[in-house]
Amino acid sequence: MTETTTPTGWALVIGSSSGFGEAISLELARAGLNILGVHFDRRSATAHVNEIVEKIKGLGREVQFYNRNAADREKRAEVLDEIQNRWAKEGGEHFIQVLLHSVAFGSLQPYIASPPDQPLTQAQIEMTIDVMGSNLVYWVQEMMVRKMLRSGSRIYALTSAGGHSVIPNYGAVSAAKAVIESHIRQLAYELMPYGITANSIQAGVTVTPGSSRIPGSEKLFELAKLRNPAGRLTTPEDVASAIAALMSEKTYWMTGNVIRVDGGEDIVG
Ligand SMILES: NC(=O)c1ccc[n+]([C@@H]2O[C@H](COP(=O)([O-])OP(=O)(O)OC[C@H]3O[C@@H](n4cnc5c(N)ncnc54)[C@H](O)[C@@H]3O)[C@@H](O)[C@H]2O)c1
Repeated sequence: MTETTTPTGWALVIGSSSGFGEAISLELARAGLNILGVHFDRRSATAHVNEIVEKIKGLGREVQFYNRNAADREKRAEVLDEIQNRWAKEGGEHFIQVLLHSVAFGSLQPYIASPPDQPLTQAQIEMTIDVMGSNLVYWVQEMMVRKMLRSGSRIYALTSAGGHSVIPNYGAVSAAKAVIESHIRQLAYELMPYGITANSIQAGVTVTPGSSRIPGSEKLFELAKLRNPAGRLTTPEDVASAIAALMSEKTYWMTGNVIRVDGGEDIVG
């Protein structure tokens, strides 16, 4: 008689050390997944990263964080090699049940500068679109080649209202949001035959280290709070809770969407 083992489900969270990625890593660990995190931080963030890792271990899950640039092709291959080597040592069947893209690293300045001779550069715009948008596609392509995703896997990308409306100083990030929403639609189309779903999660305005770097963020927070029918801002935990719920097998037919998780903020004109 052959022995069958249940495959082990992992989450791969790109942008795991802060804000949404941190809260979602913890919530998915609570929901029973082992956690792989990719983040790109200075040494000063090490203590905080270690705290997150210890919390995940405390929840009884396996965890490995990688401090690497997610947009670098070689680093991406290195991370995936290391994950597969770890799985091979552990034995049994392993797969990525949830892939989350939650990277914040973009140029936050106006297209038309004052004085006008120091505008946002082509290199800054291209970098923002690559880091916050396109690299998700390369991760998915490589994970499909390596058979790390399978039927039932879920892909999520964090987006914002900036994907369809103007926020001061946010032009390059807005473009990256429109790009990642478009990539998610295309991935949803091409991955449905494999039983893999892909959705954008449009979070409401949330106080995080990332959003606090937006010039004028205090005003942005104030206005969002006034607009939000709940009378408060979104929290990373609001979004983490939704992602854990969407992990259910029962959501297998939901794909290619931009799902708002914002307490109704964006329906208010
Ligand atoms: N905060 C908001 O109001 C808000 C609202 C909607 C959507 N979002 C989106 O949510 C996502 C996460 O934002 P956040 O507010 O949690 O930001 P954050 O700054 O708190 O977290 C960003 C994470 O990205 C990682 N990172 C940055 N550059 C990286 C790189 N090159 N390679 C690997 N990791 C990298 C950081 O290490 C960190 O873990 C972003 O896509 C952001 O646009 C934020």
